[in-house]
Amino acid sequence: MKKFGLHEVRKEFLDFFEEKNHLVLDSFSLVPKNDKSLLLINAGMAPLKPYFTGENVPPRKRVATCQKCVRTGDIENVGKTDRHATFFEMLGNFSFGDYFKEEAVEWAWEFITERLEIPKDKIWVTIYTDDDEAFKIWNEKIGIEAEKIVRLGKEDNFWELEVGPCGPCSEIYVDRGQEYGCGEPTCKPGCDCDRYVEVWNLVFSQYDKDEFGNYNPLPNPNIDTGMGLERITAVLEGARNIFEVGVVNSLLKEVEKVCGKKYGEDPKVDESIRVITDHIRAMTFMVSDGILPSNEGRGYVLRRLIRRAARHGKLLGIEDIFLYNLSSKVIDIWKDQYNEIEKNEEQIKKVIKSEEEKFRETIDQGIHILEEYVEEMKANNKTVLDGDKAFKLYDTYGFPLDLTREILEEIGFKVDEAEFNMEMEAQRQRARKAREDVGAGAWGKDEISERFKGYDTVFKGYEHTRLNSNIIELFKDNNKVSSLNEGEEGMVLLRETPFYGESGGQVGDTGTIENDNFKAYVLDTKKTKEDVIFHLVKVESGEIREGEEIFAAVDEKRRKDIARNHSATHLLHRALKDVLGEHVNQAGSLVLPDRLRFDFTHFEAIRNEDLNRIEKIVNEKILEELEVNVVETSLKEAQEFGAMALFDEKYKDIVRMVKMDDYSKELCGGTHVTNTCSIGLFKIVSESGIASGVRRIEAVTGRGAYEYLMELEENTSSILSILKTSKKDIKEKVRKLTEELKEKEKEIESLKSKMASSVAEDVVKQKHMVEDINVVTYRAEGMDMNSLRNLGDEVKSHLNSGVVVLSSVIDDKISFVAMVTKDLVDRGLHAGNIIREVAKTTGGGGGGRPDMAQAGGKDSNKIDEALKLVDSLIKGQLKK
Ligand code: ALA
Repeated sequence: MKKFGLHEVRKEFLDFFEEKNHLVLDSFSLVPKNDKSLLLINAGMAPLKPYFTGENVPPRKRVATCQKCVRTGDIENVGKTDRHATFFEMLGNFSFGDYFKEEAVEWAWEFITERLEIPKDKIWVTIYTDDDEAFKIWNEKIGIEAEKIVRLGKEDNFWELEVGPCGPCSEIYVDRGQEYGCGEPTCKPGCDCDRYVEVWNLVFSQYDKDEFGNYNPLPNPNIDTGMGLERITAVLEGARNIFEVGVVNSLLKEVEKVCGKKYGEDPKVDESIRVITDHIRAMTFMVSDGILPSNEGRGYVLRRLIRRAARHGKLLGIEDIFLYNLSSKVIDIWKDQYNEIEKNEEQIKKVIKSEEEKFRETIDQGIHILEEYVEEMKANNKTVLDGDKAFKLYDTYGFPLDLTREILEEIGFKVDEAEFNMEMEAQRQRARKAREDVGAGAWGKDEISERFKGYDTVFKGYEHTRLNSNIIELFKDNNKVSSLNEGEEGMVLLRETPFYGESGGQVGDTGTIENDNFKAYVLDTKKTKEDVIFHLVKVESGEIREGEEIFAAVDEKRRKDIARNHSATHLLHRALKDVLGEHVNQAGSLVLPDRLRFDFTHFEAIRNEDLNRIEKIVNEKILEELEVNVVETSLKEAQEFGAMALFDEKYKDIVRMVKMDDYSKELCGGTHVTNTCSIGLFKIVSESGIASGVRRIEAVTGRGAYEYLMELEENTSSILSILKTSKKDIKEKVRKLTEELKEKEKEIESLKSKMASSVAEDVVKQKHMVEDINVVTYRAEGMDMNSLRNLGDEVKSHLNSGVVVLSSVIDDKISFVAMVTKDLVDRGLHAGNIIREVAKTTGGGGGGRPDMAQAGGKDSNKIDEALKLVDSLIKGQLKK
């Protein structure tokens, strides 16, 4: 056998298939493109699906890759065993309607036996139950004995994902020898023990499974193979499992170093070390491919990996956050094959660091609460945690459900997951409702769509802001009407309209419609899912009638304000990517006449200097007077052109691409300026976080910017006049004022303490004796508890030995303080017991230590009576 390491096997494989005329492609991103059926790429064939189905034409009919993959179906077992992992690399050769079974089998054999030099007698294969063709090839062409060809059913030898290309397969196994096995006489490929390892899966991809479970034959049979790089390397290196594979093990060693513990001595420690070794690889590659931690989808997978690894770090006793540093080692080991991780190093570290920090903040709190829940459960003889409690941990303390589940499992407890899911769904509904309430006005969205289905309204507002048109239909309170009278509100459908219906974050147009019989204000314009545009109007005078010809005019001034803000949003989007990185993606936007709001993915608050840079770039682009052009083109072409599109948006075949010279290209249906210079000025007014991993920028342009400046100016003027200074001198003035203020504060403090001590002197003068004891009782006015205590301290310091009991009323609240010097405590006096009785007299309560106590009271008429009690209390307490 060749003694190849991981990197060598990879190279050998790709070289081999290049010699066999395959086009070697780089690994695709872990984020699937245009594939909603998959969260993360989990097999070499996954990014190639469109080539298998014939949807896209492949660059060559033979392709080979080494694809980074993540599988998280078994995440709970990662660490627990040494067989499970989330991240791995898959070697694959693919034929898109070119070669089929025979070549696939022959080349696999050649590679395994001649290039890797795995002894032929160690190789076994499995085939799909009735695949006699495969049997023949293995048996007759290759020469494998019939006993070593195992027929297995659909579960083992039919390869498929949820949907997409699939088919029967044949798997190649290596017999690692008896010492790895269970020793059972029935042991052969398919057995659970470690003796026979499956290294290569050859899929004869003949079907395309649809979402209804139908297997539709593909026009050409394809080949899809997959060989786990770590597994085959383990075989060559004689490693027992992936964690012993050379380069993976060097990562594991790094984890040992960080935690200061040895692998292989304590099963619990080993589990944690394996979790970190595996997860650090997955998270490094995921962040590098632009994924950010969040509570949904692949962002959630990432969050879970980071938090799980962080928790195991804690279990290992690692005090500081450590994962981000560890990613350097991953980058070091894999950068030659995956350049992107080196390029994105800064981003990778930032994201991992920020998430681990966030987690550290919440984990202690969360674990503490979970422990309380567990105590409660034990007390009630329960072993299943209520779903709403698990949800609270998730929602309020950022505790992923899996983490709760895992921690509970460690003590044999469970979570009521059905209830948890219900809570989750209820929260989703609330969020959805909140969004709709903002968007849909009086009717539910679907209701409106239903109502206006089938109407044909044409938007002319890109070219015109005023035009003649016809009224197709009128509605009032959800009913069709033939007319609307003066003062009434309703909805109007026009055959052609210059009014923009609210969509893509841009608000609807307003304006007027009129003819000789009426005039009405268009208060808002909206659009249904099917693109029917409708106007919300109020009749100012006369009567609108169905079918009439009218003149429609958009409020142009407002429309221009909106266009400025919309175009500025595109520049902002681009500038954000330039400054913060390509991971920034639009998460939402609102374009209003007076301001704009842009939500986007980013994991931390933007530093001031970056915010300034972003603002500056946008203003530069405005001053460069970039021409704004709209191009109608196919979606494919626009994408090839590099236009930014919203990931989840559904686009039509012909799309509208808004170009600002070469700087910004975005698919967009909105209305824009024709040259960026019309935007005037762009000013960011705020930056904030609105959800985990989502930031919001609010900004103003043109008129909005002017008004913003005016307001600033007015504020400044009034400040100047209050401070009686000028713009030129204001800084100096404020500096001086602050200093003066500080000095005055000091002065006040010292006066206060002087006053307190002179009051204290007065108070001390009123002392009286109870037997041989100095006693001061005093009723002050208007002092809060703090001041009263200070006074008490002062008084006590004037007495060598004694008892002080003070009271004060402020805002109807009575405070009492009692103090006893140490020597008298020794003689049995107790401030806490004194104050309790005193306060009780006024209907209050309180207590404290023997030397110092405080309490509150209720009835201020009883204060004097209460203070009189002190003497007898002291007498009672004195040790006889
Ligand atoms: N697509 C096949 C697999 O992932 C090769 O096993």
